[in-house]
Amino acid sequence: MQYATLNNGVEMPLLGFGVYQIPADDTERAVSEALAAGYRLLDTAAAYGNEEAVGRAIKSSGIARDDLFVTTKLWVQDAPAEENTRRAFETSLTKLGLDHIDLYLMHQPYGDVYGQWRAMENLNREGRAKAIGVANFSPDRLLDLILNNEITPQVNQIETHPFFQRADDQKLMAEHGVQIQSWGGFAEGKNDLFTNPLLTEIGKEYGKSVAQVVLRWLTQRGVIAIPKSVRAERMAENFDVFDFELTDEQVTRIATLDTGGSLFFDHRDPEMVAWLAARRLDA
Ligand SMILES: NC(=O)c1ccc[n+]([C@@H]2O[C@H](COP(=O)([O-])OP(=O)(O)OC[C@H]3O[C@@H](n4cnc5c(N)ncnc54)[C@H](OP(=O)(O)O)[C@@H]3O)[C@@H](O)[C@H]2O)c1
Repeated sequence: MQYATLNNGVEMPLLGFGVYQIPADDTERAVSEALAAGYRLLDTAAAYGNEEAVGRAIKSSGIARDDLFVTTKLWVQDAPAEENTRRAFETSLTKLGLDHIDLYLMHQPYGDVYGQWRAMENLNREGRAKAIGVANFSPDRLLDLILNNEITPQVNQIETHPFFQRADDQKLMAEHGVQIQSWGGFAEGKNDLFTNPLLTEIGKEYGKSVAQVVLRWLTQRGVIAIPKSVRAERMAENFDVFDFELTDEQVTRIATLDTGGSLFFDHRDPEMVAWLAARRLDA
C-alpha cells in the first residue's frame, strides 16, 4: 500500500473502502470482505447509519487496531456546537466500538462551522481524533477556515473523478498542506463512466478495467480514493491498482474528460444548502 503523509505527520493509506449507501444490514458482510481483500482504510459517517456494522466487522476481523485507519464524519451541528460535537463524536466512537478515530471529518460546511471545528481541534489535541479534516469545502470556505483557526485541516474530502478533476482545488490545498481525498471516484457510474471509450482504451494497454484506470489516475495524482462496492470481486479489482503507471500523455488525455463541474449537486446552491443544513440525525 502507498501512503500520504498528512500535515501533522499521520500516515494515511492512499486507497480505502467507502461504505456510503451500503444498507446497515449488509455493511458488516461488505466491510469484512473488504478487510479480507486487504483494505485497511474504512470511510463511514454518522449520517450513513452503518457505523455499528462497520464496528462489528472491525471487531470480528481480528486485525490490530494500529493496522487500521478509520474515518467517520460529524453531521451538521447547531450553535453553540462545541458540546454537541463532542457528544456526536462519543456516539460515533461507541457505535464503532473504538477508543479513537484516525480521521474525523466535518461532513458539510454548514451549521456552526467554527464551533464544530474548535471542538474537533480539541479532540485532536486530546489524541482521540488522530487527524481532523473537512468535506465538501469549496476553496474559499476552506481558506477562510484555515486563516481563522489554529489547526489547518489535514484533509478535504471532495467530489473528484474524471469528469470533475479538481486540479485547481488540489493545487490550493497543496499550497496550504491540506490533503485532497476523492469521494465518488467513479462518479457513482454517472456519464457511463465504466464504458467510457478513452478510459477503456487506456485500460486495454495494461489489461486493466476502467475502474482500475480511474483509481490509478487518482492515486497517481496523490488523491486518496475510497471506492465503494458491495461485491467481493470488485473490491479485489479496485484494490489491484499499484502494478502499473499511467504515462504523462495518458494523463493529459484523461484531462480532456473534465467538465469542471459537479455531476451531483453544488454545495453552494441555496436549495441544497437549505436542505442539507436543515437535516438533523436522530442520535
Ligand atoms: N463526504 C461526502 O460528502 C461523501 C459523499 C459521497 C461519498 N463519500 C464517500 O466516498 C465513497 C465513494 O463514493 P460513492 O460510494 O458515492 O461512489 P463511487 O465509489 O464513485 O461508485 C460506487 C458505484 O460504483 C460501482 N462499482 C464499484 N466498483 C466497480 C467496478 N470495479 N466496476 C463497476 N462498477 C463498480 C458500485 O456498484 P456495486 O456496489 O454494486 O459494486 C457503485 O454503484 C463513499 O462510499 C463514501 O465513503 C463521501
